[in-house]
Formats: sequence, C-alpha cells, structure tokens
Amino acid sequence: MAAPRCSIPGLLSFLAAALLLSCSVRSDKQSNIILILTDDQDVRLGGLTPMEKTKRLIGDAGATFVNAFTVTPLCCPSRSSVLTGRYPHNHEVRNNSVSGNCSSALWQSGPEAQAFPVFLNKMKYQTFFAGKYLNQYGKKEGGDIGYVPPGWDQWHALVGNSQYYNYTLSVNGKEEQHGDSYEEDYLTDLIVNRSLHFLDDRSPQHPFFIMVSPPAPHSPWTPAPQYRDKFADVKAPRDGSFNKPGTDKHWLLRQPSNPMTDSSLNYLDDAYRRRWQTLLSVDDLVEKLVEKVDSINELNNTYVFFTSDNGYHTGQFSLPIDKRQLYEFDIRVPLMVRGPGIKPNQTLQAPVLNIDLAPTILDISGVNLSSVNVDGQSFLAQMAPTLRNGTARPFFLVEYIGEGQPTPDPACPALGPGLSHCFPDCVCEDAYNNTYACVRTLDGQQDLQYCEFADSESFVEVYNLTSDCHQLENIVKKVDPALLQAMNQRLIKLQSCVGDSCRETH
Ligand SMILES: *[C@@H]1O[C@H](CO)[C@@H](O)[C@H](O)[C@H]1NC(C)=O
Ligand SMILES: *[C@@H]1O[C@H](CO)[C@@H](O)[C@H](O)[C@H]1NC(C)=O
Ligand SMILES: *[C@@H]1O[C@H](CO)[C@@H](O)[C@H](O)[C@H]1NC(C)=O
Ligand SMILES: *[C@@H]1O[C@H](CO)[C@@H](O)[C@H](O)[C@H]1NC(C)=O
Ligand SMILES: *[C@@H]1O[C@H](CO)[C@@H](O)[C@H](O)[C@H]1NC(C)=O
Ligand SMILES: *[C@@H]1O[C@H](CO)[C@@H](O)[C@H](O)[C@H]1NC(C)=O
Repeated sequence: MAAPRCSIPGLLSFLAAALLLSCSVRSDKQSNIILILTDDQDVRLGGLTPMEKTKRLIGDAGATFVNAFTVTPLCCPSRSSVLTGRYPHNHEVRNNSVSGNCSSALWQSGPEAQAFPVFLNKMKYQTFFAGKYLNQYGKKEGGDIGYVPPGWDQWHALVGNSQYYNYTLSVNGKEEQHGDSYEEDYLTDLIVNRSLHFLDDRSPQHPFFIMVSPPAPHSPWTPAPQYRDKFADVKAPRDGSFNKPGTDKHWLLRQPSNPMTDSSLNYLDDAYRRRWQTLLSVDDLVEKLVEKVDSINELNNTYVFFTSDNGYHTGQFSLPIDKRQLYEFDIRVPLMVRGPGIKPNQTLQAPVLNIDLAPTILDISGVNLSSVNVDGQSFLAQMAPTLRNGTARPFFLVEYIGEGQPTPDPACPALGPGLSHCFPDCVCEDAYNNTYACVRTLDGQQDLQYCEFADSESFVEVYNLTSDCHQLENIVKKVDPALLQAMNQRLIKLQSCVGDSCRETH
C-alpha cells in the first residue's frame, strides 16, 4: 500500500510536452463538461490509491492538481460552494441542517438560483444530474421531492444523505423508491447507468454537462458484492499524525484518549478498507462514462473533472473517523481534469479551491465571468495555458462553523452539551465552538497556515507546512509577532471578502 506523502513529486516531462503539442486542437464547437464529485474522499491518506482506472483515464490524460482544497471541510457547505463558486460566508450555508441553510428555502431563492448550472442551461447546455446533491435535498422542509433546482434538464437526485441501498430518488420531481437488489439499486451503478442513457437520448446539436455525485466513499461504506473481499489486508496508514496526541491544539483535539483503544483502531481500519471497496465502483463509473463519451466520438471535445467535497481522517491526532478539522487530511481533496488544451500527465502545483470549479466550468462554456457573482477564479489558465492567461492565487481562506447538539449524547452523558459525532469511544469530532477561519499562504516560497478559533480561548494554531507537513507542531508561540499580526489582518479581510476582493493577491 502506498504510504501517504506530503507532496507528490514529478513535473511535466519534456517528452510528454513535446508529444502533445500536436493534440491541443480545439474547434469552435462548445465543449462538453463532466463533473464527478465523490463524497468524503481524502487525497492525503491514500484515497486515490484504489482508483487505478480513474488516474489513468483522467489524471494521466490531463492535469493532476496536487494542491486542491475545499474552503470548508463539511459536505453541505462544501457542495454549496461547488455549486455557487462562493465562500460559505457568502452563500450562507452554515452546516448540514435545514436550519443552517442546507437546501433551505432561502438557499433556493437566493444562492441556488445563481448556481452555475443555471448559466450553463442559458448557454444551451443539456444538463444532467445524478446522485447525492445536498444533505437535506428532497426533505419536506427543503421543498420536498417535487422540487428540482433550476438549470437541470435531467434530475436523478438522492433524497437526503449518502446511501447505497434503500433510498429514495427524485427523478425529475417524481418519487422513485429503491430497495437492496445489487442489480437494480446499487446507487453508484445506477448513477452511471442513468448518465449513459442521457448520452444516448441527448440531442447532438448542443453540448452536454453531466454532474455525477456517487455516495462513495461516505458511510455506511457498503461495497458492491464483487468488491466485498478486496483489500483484506489493508489498514489505515500509521505514519504522520496517526494516533498522536493533539496536545498543542485547540481544546477539542486535546480530548481524545491517547493512545487509541484497540476497538477504535479496529473500527477505523474497517472503515478505511470499506471506503476503498466502495471506491472501486466509482472507478468503474469513471471508466464506463469515459468509454461511452469516446464511443460517441466526443472525448476529444469533453472536459472531465474528478474531485471530492472534502477530505477525511482515520486516526489522525487520535480522532477515529470524520472530517470537519482544519488539518490537511480534511481540507485537501483530489482533483484531476482532462480535456481540450490540457496536456497529458501534468502535475500542477498551483493552489485551486472548490469555489474555482464553477468559474472554471463557466469559463469553458463561454460565459463572461465578469457577469457572475463568484468568489473563486477560473483555473483554465493553469491547466491549458494555450487557451487562457492567468496567474495562481498566493493565499486563500478556509472557514468552518462547528456542529453541536444542545443536549449531551445519551451514549456519553459525562461529556455535557455542545458536542457532536462522539463515536466510537466517546471521542467527539465536532462542537459548536469548533468554529474557525484559516488563511493559507501557498506561493512557492511559503506554505503557512494561520487559524483562529471562535472559542473562549480565542485559540490560534499556526503551521509551517514546508518543514512540518503533518502539522505536528503548532508554532504560534515561536513565530514573529509581526507575522502573526499580518496573517490576522489578512484573515480579517478574507472573512468578509466578496467577489473581486476574495481574489486580491496582496
Ligand atoms: C475529435 O476527433 C474527431 C475524429 O475522431 C475529429 O474529427 C475532430 O476534429 C476532433 N475534434 C477535436 C476538437 O480535436
Ligand atoms: C502518462 O504517464 C504514464 C506513466 O508514466 C504513461 O504510461 C502514459 O503513457 C502517459 N500518457 C500520456 C498520454 O503521455
Ligand atoms: C440563510 O441564508 C440567508 C440568505 O440566503 C441568510 O439571510 C440567513 O441569515 C441564513 N441563515 C443562517 C442561519 O445563516
Ligand atoms: C433494506 O431494507 C430492508 C427492509 O427494511 C431490509 O431488510 C434490508 O436489510 C435493507 N438493506 C440494506 C442494505 O440496508
Ligand atoms: C447498470 O447497468 C448494467 C449493464 O446494463 C446492469 O448489469 C446493472 O444491473 C445496472 N445496475 C443498476 C443499479 O442499474
Ligand atoms: C446549524 O446552524 C443553525 C443556524 O446557525 C443552528 O441553529 C443549528 O444548531 C446548527 N446545527 C448543528 C447541528 O449544529
């Protein structure tokens, strides 16, 4: 098994560059676009390792971004950022509940009405969605199953959070119940089947946009039957911050018992293995979709994006399983893109964010970006410099609002109120005041992370990722106070940025 690494070495070889100059042809025909968005797939702990076909068909055929981040490490806020191209402080989706705007009426009448699919549809794209949308989609409080967000021509969305069997879909606003027959219901397979039918039925006069959002590798980690016995010897990686105490970190990270119990270790190893098993079906999905697009002779005119909503951890700093933390394992996501003008086998260092997906997709579609209200920026120039000019951003914001429960977890009464996700072994992964904002400087000279918590300690964590890529040492007490102050000022500006001011470079 590949050990997790801090950075992925390897730059574009001159050979590959020379070979591919001849391939960057582009007709005036609008390009098709495919976005594959997985659920909770990390990149730091080996999350891409089981996906050999995806790496070959997308990464080797295009660009692999080794510094791709979510601006918030939780499903619903992150997905809302993907759809709108905005930081959470601008789309105002705070958490995974309707009361925190996840698929709420205010989200629907506000940010969602300006999400990128609406613009694609105006550009005459035929649009298709299948899979998990937002955690509260289709619930009564979120507009029910009849509600189909604007911009989508074909809509096959999961009601609620990720499931593999026994779920309900909204199929263009109509309820469709599914049971637990592998052949008829396994959600990852159903998603790709529907997308292939869409390609058969589309009109070749117009370009297409496909967004597929499989449940994998989110819990309950139910693999397809043929993959149930795979990776029998695989365990979560043991290096870096695995099973380390979070002694110099904010209070929530000082709570887990260390070393972890055997039952926690067994639990997280099982989760890790099953996550990989479920990803094998996503690997099949990618292969089937790419092969289909090839078979209709559209592959050389199609951009394919592969990414995830947030990362994930299994045992880092003695936290058993989840996301929600400011550390690399939770905020870094996989990102690979192939398409016209993108030379194969490129490894790109430029930092890119999930809020950049919407502007990049709209840029490809021909929308004038000055007419859309986004905080992110197109990274087409980074992938395809023959098509666009542009420079990489030197710093960015990551922001998160902690989720809690007003009453103590009945399984862990001693812990008191305000915490959540206290499982297994009563280790809590979140709390109302696990609320933080970080500025990350990543510009080729520096790789620094500065984070402030909205807790009673106003806790600050600072990491020099160049020398400490596993974030083992909080250097807040060692750093020049002038530098701390400069980072604090930058953070304050970013926390209220809108549009252009989010893209400032100084
Ligand atoms: C794509 O390939 C087809 C032949 O397979 C060719 O006719 C077409 O010009 C190519 N398009 C682009 C954009 O390279
Ligand atoms: C990309 O790199 C891989 C591994 O080195 C190689 O097998 C493949 O042929 C390369 N692909 C292209 C299109 O250059
Ligand atoms: C939900 O979003 C609306 C704007 O779309 C905003 O006015 C409201 O304050 C948000 N609610 C929360 C709880 O943040
Ligand atoms: C699906 O639901 C049925 C009926 O409630 C149940 O028997 C079955 O175990 C469930 N299957 C899965 C995979 O959860
Ligand atoms: C998907 O299509 C394949 C090939 O037709 C079929 O074998 C499989 O049962 C289908 N799965 C689902 C869940 O629709
Ligand atoms: C989600 O956000 C809303 C609005 O701030 C809050 O009332 C609710 O308690 C939050 N939910 C959780 C689980 O923290």
